[in-house]
Amino acid sequence: MNAPDTCALDLTEEVIATLSGCEDERFRFVMTQLVEHLHAFARKVDLRPEEWMGAIQFLTAVGQTCDDKRQEFILLSDTLGLSMLVVALAQARASGAAAGAATPATEATVLGPYYWEGAPELPLGADLGAGVRGEPAFYQGRVTDTEGRPLAGALLDIWSGDGEGVYDMQLEGNTQMLARGRIRTDEGGRYWFWSIRPSFYPIPMDGPVGRMIERMGRDPNRPGHIHMIVSADGHVPVATHLFVADSPYLETDVVFGVRDSLIVPFERMGPGTASDGRVLDRPYWEAHYDFRLAPR
Ligand code: BEZ
Ligand code: FE
Repeated sequence: MNAPDTCALDLTEEVIATLSGCEDERFRFVMTQLVEHLHAFARKVDLRPEEWMGAIQFLTAVGQTCDDKRQEFILLSDTLGLSMLVVALAQARASGAAAGAATPATEATVLGPYYWEGAPELPLGADLGAGVRGEPAFYQGRVTDTEGRPLAGALLDIWSGDGEGVYDMQLEGNTQMLARGRIRTDEGGRYWFWSIRPSFYPIPMDGPVGRMIERMGRDPNRPGHIHMIVSADGHVPVATHLFVADSPYLETDVVFGVRDSLIVPFERMGPGTASDGRVLDRPYWEAHYDFRLAPR
């Protein structure tokens, strides 16, 4: 539906001309493009004053919902697909140098609001899921470079919600880190650890972004996933997720974070002896994934 553009007023060039004294070339370019696209948008939708005021009230409410624990602006960016687009652009830019590698680097995806810096460094095989609701899951694989060479001492900074889709930060009154840890690969680039099989969950829906999602007629859920930032000296770090292959909402992730290459089968096992020798008296899951990092 294109609104007829009957407005003769053309301020666009006039506004852009005010940037002629801007000495920061990149900032001038970004602001010029922003003004051009904002003006084109207003013309395209024939923006009404009451809609413009509604948008200002909405953005004000988004800001007022932010505090040290809640970042509603990031949620807005996530749910409009902008965060994922910026992540993909950054990865494409960083891996330009690695063009022609045998295999591409592991795909990056959104960081999300639940990263908590400073998770404890734990030994290989540690159980990040101790004291966390959910079914146990054993994760294993390797970290290599894009030529397949193992990266010893690579760091996996891992976090997830629990088996019911709730993060430690969301638990009322909880100040303790749960389902988080940092693990380093062994000399063969191998990693293994225990946690829980993560569940799907809805993004916070009690604020202005939630009202926007409802009004847009969208589903608020993310499919089950575990987050990690994988890094190694001399390589481009990647913030990514592993998605549970048979989770609901893989097709409709509300923040557009799913990449096919990150969907991992979780195999139902046990009760019995797991790959690392741990004996479980209840069923558990196993997931295998190899990460690849591009050289800097
Ligand atoms: C998350 O995966 O933790 C997340 C990402 C974006 C918005 C909300 C949650
Ligand atoms: Fe998450």
